[in-house]
Amino acid sequence: MKPIKDLLDISSLTIEEIETLLESAGPMKELFTKSVKKVPALKGKSVLTLFYEPSTRTHSSFEVAAERLSADVTSFTVSTSSVVKGESVHDTIATLQSMKMDYIIVRHYNSGLPAVIARATNASVVNAGDGAHAHPTQALLDAFTIREACGTITGKKVVIIGDILHSRVARSTSLILTRLGAEVRYMGPGSLTPLEIHSGLTTFRSFDEAFAWRPDFIYLLRVQKERQDAPFFPNAREYNQIYGVTKERLKRIADEGMYIMHPGPVNRGVEICDEAMEYERCLINKQVENGIACRMSVLYHLTPQTHR
Ligand code: CP
Repeated sequence: MKPIKDLLDISSLTIEEIETLLESAGPMKELFTKSVKKVPALKGKSVLTLFYEPSTRTHSSFEVAAERLSADVTSFTVSTSSVVKGESVHDTIATLQSMKMDYIIVRHYNSGLPAVIARATNASVVNAGDGAHAHPTQALLDAFTIREACGTITGKKVVIIGDILHSRVARSTSLILTRLGAEVRYMGPGSLTPLEIHSGLTTFRSFDEAFAWRPDFIYLLRVQKERQDAPFFPNAREYNQIYGVTKERLKRIADEGMYIMHPGPVNRGVEICDEAMEYERCLINKQVENGIACRMSVLYHLTPQTHR
């Protein structure tokens, strides 16, 4: 694989690069079963996590991934930084460049901000989620999880359900899965799903339509209240009745051997019931575990520029 400085989105990667990142995640995951879970691959390298939005899974798994590769990790916490005193993103970037970090992991509410940082620094920048644009490491871990569950992605049918409009996960995950040979459909309220002429993907309006398509994977999205400036559906109860995995729908999902995925965090009782969280083919915790392996693979393969 030729050197790649940054990981900003899935569309910038070739299929060969995606395959290399997924293939390397396998041996990374095998490390988790060893008594010593560290390798010296990034010894002496510095990783900065820079999260302008809340995160549990992505933030902590990047830190664990970097530590398992023996890198030194610094967390920039926006709420206790000079950002709250009014420091501009431009000045924060100049400060980061002066620190001569090797890797910067950035999450920001503005689409495109990680790309701005990537242009301004020699560090390798990884987009950990920017606005409604992209979340490439989520896409990699989703692809890895599907391949691990079924042995292949090609020909698998995945229906992504919920707030597609505001979802960087839906964009990145549908793109990687389609490129790797899966069939992807959307399902959700008309107000939260793009038209087929824009997305190129068919949208179902109900579980009956989705079940009739016989999907292998039910991929649920969180209703993102924080990105909605107007109510897109009447209330959580109504959403649950139409688009949620309820106990009744779980029975059909289990009878037909479908898998359930969700990027987290979940709204229990809205998009998923408690029983579905315990379902044997619910892969949500596997996604978290695989997130560490895939992020180790990404850090291992990126090549920062030399600082002057
Ligand atoms: N999937 C995901 O991005 O979760 P976090 O917001 O907890 O990082």
